Amino acid sequence: MRKIVIAGNWKMYKTQAESLEFLQGFMNHLNETPDDREILLCAPFTALGALSKNLHGSRIKIGAQNIHWESAGAYTGEISGVMLKELGVRYVIVGHSERRQYFGETDETVNLRLKAAQQHGLTPILCVGETGDQRSQGETETVITQQLKRDLVEVDQDNLVIAYEPIWAIGTGDTCEAIEANRVISLIRNQLTNPNVPIQYGGSVKPGNIDEIMAQPEIDGALVGGASLEPSDFARIVNFQ
Ligand code: PGA
Repeated sequence: MRKIVIAGNWKMYKTQAESLEFLQGFMNHLNETPDDREILLCAPFTALGALSKNLHGSRIKIGAQNIHWESAGAYTGEISGVMLKELGVRYVIVGHSERRQYFGETDETVNLRLKAAQQHGLTPILCVGETGDQRSQGETETVITQQLKRDLVEVDQDNLVIAYEPIWAIGTGDTCEAIEANRVISLIRNQLTNPNVPIQYGGSVKPGNIDEIMAQPEIDGALVGGASLEPSDFARIVNFQ
């Protein structure tokens, strides 16, 4: 049985105060949310501690957006698994296209971060996806196959979530057709040794399209950027029908 994981990726949004304000609006929408859905907030590092304190005993899990591969060291600006664990973090996004595009993340560093997350008992969410150009040149399959091959070297597939995030669909309002996302996700699943890895779709997921996305047989959840910032929008997504 594959787990359903709905994750908010807050990116570089929300101070501690704003994060707690979000919880106030969000929590009371969860009374009827089915138990089999894992709900996750991937917040900026500075908000993790406050969220963790306020979510103690709740069903909402906390995720980070990056992790370094060493436990400690002279790596200015980085954060380690030890530090994240201390804050009650359970998941971490690795290899988001914004990190690959703006911060020089490569398949090699993605692989190191994935392994480090697992060594610290965190569940990594590996993001893969093609650019608009790659898609129009028919390279979607090749690009994703190559990312998976390089990123997953020696990674434990029993403690992993994958997010298919076509880059052209992120933050653009231009969602990938649900059927097409389902097709690519099935292709991703065929490359895995563990068929039970939850695979999410990400890219302009909204209250208006979540039901159709989640109705697809291969899609096990969503990684949600913009629409996870607003409590009622994210609640509607978590409570997909
Ligand atoms: P979006 O972002 O939902 O705002 O498109 C998704 C993501 O970057 O994970």
